[in-house]
Amino acid sequence: MQILFKNIKELIQVREKAEVFVSGEAMKTLPCIQNAYLLIKKGVIASFGPMTDCPEYEVDEIVDATGKMILPSWCDSHTHLVYAGNREGEFEDQINGLSYQEIAKRGGGILNSAKVLENTSLEDLYLQSKVRLEEVMHLGTGAIEIKSGYGLTPKSELKMLRTIKRLRKEYPIPIRATFLAAHAVPKAYENKKKLFLKTILEETLPVIQAENLASAVDVFCETGYFTPEDTAYVLKTAQAYGLKPKIHVNQFNAIGGVAIGVRYKALSVDHLELIHDEDLAVLKGSKTMPVALPGCSFFLGIPYTPARKILDAGLPLALASDYNPGSAPSGNMNFVVSTACVKMKMTPQEAINSATINGAFAMGVEQEVGSITVGKKANLILTKTIQSLTALPYSFGSNLIEKVYVNGKILNK
Ligand code: NIG
Ligand code: FE
Repeated sequence: MQILFKNIKELIQVREKAEVFVSGEAMKTLPCIQNAYLLIKKGVIASFGPMTDCPEYEVDEIVDATGKMILPSWCDSHTHLVYAGNREGEFEDQINGLSYQEIAKRGGGILNSAKVLENTSLEDLYLQSKVRLEEVMHLGTGAIEIKSGYGLTPKSELKMLRTIKRLRKEYPIPIRATFLAAHAVPKAYENKKKLFLKTILEETLPVIQAENLASAVDVFCETGYFTPEDTAYVLKTAQAYGLKPKIHVNQFNAIGGVAIGVRYKALSVDHLELIHDEDLAVLKGSKTMPVALPGCSFFLGIPYTPARKILDAGLPLALASDYNPGSAPSGNMNFVVSTACVKMKMTPQEAINSATINGAFAMGVEQEVGSITVGKKANLILTKTIQSLTALPYSFGSNLIEKVYVNGKILNK
């Protein structure tokens, strides 16, 4: 099957080579071709360029994209979209002024989601999760990372990871699974955190390896959750099983976790609502991607990740949704990109770089997706008729996507 898109008003994020990621000043540039063509062969990008250079192709289908733009699909490198139920019950407490930590102390938060998940069957968990995955795919997400972490027991963690594995099998976009081994200490292990970590790792890692259930490991490194020492222990133990580190860090407090992430060569350090100069210094020269989650800041009313400080220090930045029931109950990457521009003062070019090429790097799929590059998957967003690419973040809340393509095929409603 061959498809030729013609007269594309702007072909966005074109990269000759599958660059790994972009940082600092370079993020201000989003390479585009005006009045372009794009050829897809067998689900893969085969050729592109200005219309004036478009050869006479014999194809199965021609799409006239006059007035419309094409960009690579969003790469959402941080989600928890496999969960059971929701936390609507806590939303009013939040509105009435209780903080995330106060809600957690009352038995809400992660422990609440874990209890519901424990009582949800594998089949039901899959059915609930697939609805969310389909929703975000229609919103333009063409590659995604999904974490466990609402299990908190070996049995429930494996239930989550097997659900992610089933999603990977049933859906055509790249899905990366992360074992979020240390998300909260369950009640049964109150004051026995070390034993909890030892047990969850020992009982789960061999199964994860045998069944190929995850490619990364994650820890919530935060006051009241897990210390930098706990984080180092988890990352080191899981690395021996081939899992790449990613961490939740500097969300409410900066306690030295960023340096641990860099020391263990983490793929990404995520949240960073708080960031100190020493954190920026350790990230410099590393290949660890800082990831901002503006949907979480929006929903919890906490500070936004200081993107300008990170970018002006010459570092890269990725944007992700953090889709989860407690701190970001939305996986809409269009909203994430808008919010990054409005609240974090990222330019549309920087935000789109962050949500495509850099997001791909943050989950290790940069050779497959994240840019318009020959050989990459044709996971694409075709916009409606728009004036300029700025319309995407500017018109927040509007759906400017006309069609989503996955492996060169229209994603049907
Ligand atoms: O990324 N910070 C930790 N984990 C999630 C929230 C989990 C929850 O509240 O359910 C996050 O914000
Ligand atoms: Fe998260």
